[in-house]
Amino acid sequence: MRRTTVTPTGREVTFGDDEIIVSKTDLAGVITYANEVFLRVAGYEESEVLGKPHNLIRHPEMPRCVFRLLWESLERGEEIFAYVMNMAKNGDHYWVFAHVTPSVDAHGRIVGYHSNRRVPYPDALPKVQALYRELRDIERAAPDAPSAIAASARALSARLDSLGMDYERFVFSLSAQTVMECTA
Ligand SMILES: Cc1cc2nc3c(=O)[nH]c(=O)nc-3n(C[C@H](O)[C@H](O)[C@H](O)COP(=O)(O)O)c2cc1C
Repeated sequence: MRRTTVTPTGREVTFGDDEIIVSKTDLAGVITYANEVFLRVAGYEESEVLGKPHNLIRHPEMPRCVFRLLWESLERGEEIFAYVMNMAKNGDHYWVFAHVTPSVDAHGRIVGYHSNRRVPYPDALPKVQALYRELRDIERAAPDAPSAIAASARALSARLDSLGMDYERFVFSLSAQTVMECTA
């Protein structure tokens, strides 16, 4: 189910450097928990998000191939870091640097997923925005959703190959700060 009624306003909203936007989902990406920062920034009441698919806050400008990567990583049992632009209930948008991880039970079985999001590193954002614009344009030129995802995923993979990086290294290479944290 995709929300279709809200039009993006083009207005960006931000949150505090010391704040973390948290949500948890079940295996299907249905929201089971959202913290107060999530609710405030996205402009929802808790009762409006619990039980809803996480694409509730999907922004139409986000390239689909990023979410494909996210789900592929999670289903392999791996964490993923990604820059994401989300849409608030009123159509405003906010950028986050997300860390999404599988949640496991005592037997190591994946029982759901968990995401912590911080304010993005400012020096990374222009690079992310340029890349996402390219990927989105590729998706828009495709005749249907499956070929759109396939085409943008190919383009992203070609870009990573040309840089000699996997997606995680690429994400961390976008900011001087994260490069320092990685090599510290
Ligand atoms: C723990 C978790 C957190 C997620 N957080 C977001 C998010 O902040 N924004 C978003 O658009 N999608 C998020 N997703 C991905 C959505 O489930 C969905 O794949 C994405 O919005 C694309 O929706 P679509 O496939 O209907 O186009 C998250 C998924 C999981 C499992």
